[in-house]
Amino acid sequence: MMSDIKEILITEEQIQEKVKEMGEQIARDYRDKNPVLVGVLNGAFVFLADLMRHLDIPCTVDFVSWQSYGKDTSSSGVFRIMKDLETNVESKHVLVVEDIIDTGLTLHYLLDTIRSRKPASVRVAALLDKPSRRRIEAKADYLGFQIPDYFVVGYGLDFAQEYRNLPFIAVLKPEIYAGSDTPPDELE
Ligand code: IMP
Ligand code: MG
Repeated sequence: MMSDIKEILITEEQIQEKVKEMGEQIARDYRDKNPVLVGVLNGAFVFLADLMRHLDIPCTVDFVSWQSYGKDTSSSGVFRIMKDLETNVESKHVLVVEDIIDTGLTLHYLLDTIRSRKPASVRVAALLDKPSRRRIEAKADYLGFQIPDYFVVGYGLDFAQEYRNLPFIAVLKPEIYAGSDTPPDELE
């Protein structure tokens, strides 16, 4: 697996330090608010698991899974809910936890859906942001790192479902991406 890596963009230590900082900030902001953390599957589960261990406040956790329709969904922005929330978020403080904001489409439509359920508030914590790829408005209230337009893996992020277990954020060698029928920017 290590032989597939071209470059480590963000080290394990840098991630852990940042996630701790984010968790402490979130804990201060949400004291007495009993937030519902909403993890976006699959990519966000590693970040969410680390983040919530820095929250020394009462909170609950739930997950959603969204899939875009067909190959060209990035452009259509049409999503299908594969797994919906089990929590009724009406009047609750919701914190959406995402691995990365890329085009912004996933987050934009997810926030629309959550807002239609009348929560007390909705904010977003994202580990990574690729602002140069944005196609629709979407922003994180709590952000780990801005990165250039590279397709990255590790710390929950995958390429063709692999590499999620790497403890750092990395770019793969071009020949790994080239071996796939789906170029990285078409992958969900
Ligand atoms: P968006 O809807 O284009 O903002 O894409 C969001 C989703 O695409 C993320 O939650 C990731 O699952 C996936 N994604 C975007 N960029 C990358 C990347 O560089 N590596 C791995 N997954 C990515
Ligand atoms: Mg994701």
